[in-house]
Amino acid sequence: MEATLKPVKPTQRFEPNGKSSRIPGFYNLDLAQRLDKLDDWLKLTRNEKFMLKRETLTPELADVMIENAIGVFGIPLGIAVNLRLNEKDYLLPMAIEESSVVAAASNAARLIRENGTMTGQASEQIMISQIQIVDVADPDAAKQKILDNKERLLSVANHNDFTIVRLGGGARDIEVEILETLSGKMVIANLLVDCRDAMGANIVNTMAENLGPIIADLVEGQVICQIVSNLSDRRMVRVKFELENVDCLARAGYSGKDAADRLVKAYHFAEADPHRATTHNKGVMNGIDGVLIATGNDWRAVEAGVHAYASRDGRYKPVTKFYFNEAGKLCGEIEIPMAIGIVGGVTKIHPGVKILLKMMTVETASELAQVVAAAGLIQNFAAIWTLATEGIQKGHMTLHAKNVAVFAGALGELAIKVANQMAHEGRVRFDRAKELVKQFMIKEQCEKPQHQDSQECKDPELLKLLDENKKN
Ligand code: MEV
Repeated sequence: MEATLKPVKPTQRFEPNGKSSRIPGFYNLDLAQRLDKLDDWLKLTRNEKFMLKRETLTPELADVMIENAIGVFGIPLGIAVNLRLNEKDYLLPMAIEESSVVAAASNAARLIRENGTMTGQASEQIMISQIQIVDVADPDAAKQKILDNKERLLSVANHNDFTIVRLGGGARDIEVEILETLSGKMVIANLLVDCRDAMGANIVNTMAENLGPIIADLVEGQVICQIVSNLSDRRMVRVKFELENVDCLARAGYSGKDAADRLVKAYHFAEADPHRATTHNKGVMNGIDGVLIATGNDWRAVEAGVHAYASRDGRYKPVTKFYFNEAGKLCGEIEIPMAIGIVGGVTKIHPGVKILLKMMTVETASELAQVVAAAGLIQNFAAIWTLATEGIQKGHMTLHAKNVAVFAGALGELAIKVANQMAHEGRVRFDRAKELVKQFMIKEQCEKPQHQDSQECKDPELLKLLDENKKN
């Protein structure tokens, strides 16, 4: 049985609260101003604002979440703006350390909303849980026995007081396969469970553990593993965009048409070569993982599923496609398994996740799945458009240069000045950043002798130097 994908339109087809996710200049605002914009969008409480700014998770909660906790580990949280999918606007929270990702997603989302449309489809939220039975005398007869008892086994699986069963989900079907393995034939019962809005791993693992011994008894075998499959290919999502015209892609001396042709050829490279496909898909996951982390989802599970799905034909391939349709329009498409939830697990206890899910205004897991897949598609689109035109290093280097400048002691405006200078020189190095910080600070001091010691530099060595310079 293949997953059937259908449009899952949000009930709210307008911008939440009448607001648009198109927020020009969001990039140029400071942290406090960006939070104010979110407040406009979401009506944040003072506490929520504080948490987003300072502490989305306390060490005390971390201690409850994992063993041997010693604290909480920080990672930048950004908002990609401009996304419109299925005629609804979204803000995309991304927890990610890679500097260019949030800006690239925002830019690609803007290009698409201004020059085309993006739509999504999702399948039912079916997870697979696997029960492995070994030492079966007659595997074919065992398979038949399981199938003959399917209804009884399904009602056993659904018997416990599972919330998803009360919400209309639960075990739907059992499929049986006989595997030739290194230790001979094994019987595998795959339990298909509708998980509704939960990620569902816990529920389906429990169901499988309840059912495993019963099936083993039935077929007179031994049960070994009873565990969810992260190749969740019955829980699929597809997102597609189409650009009305490609003039907006003109860049680095290439016309829009040339850039689009080159972009499609960049995709063809990935389609033909697993080495390139791996990096291409890494760019897709750049968009996906950040949103999954910010929404408390198991990004390792999604990563595993996506890469397995990328190899389903026996060769690793890209999970996105780019092509010109019959009308000559540039289209981009992604199709991936996406087992995620908006209820239960971390979404229930992590205060930051609760705020960010509220910000996303998603009503179902399948709606979130589409938004996450869209994040992967636009991120990949931005990456290969850049690769196919100006190359990746220019932008990367500018952002990397800012990090190096900060590391060398600069903050705020000074960091930007130092970064720009290093990018201009094509020399992004810590020692050069140190030199430039000193030069700019001294210049500033000489130009404004009445100026107090700059607040922008925290480097004690440099402050001493400035002092000495003043004396001279
Ligand atoms: C870098 O994090 C991601 C890219 O390498 C993706 C790609 O090559 O398509 C730029």
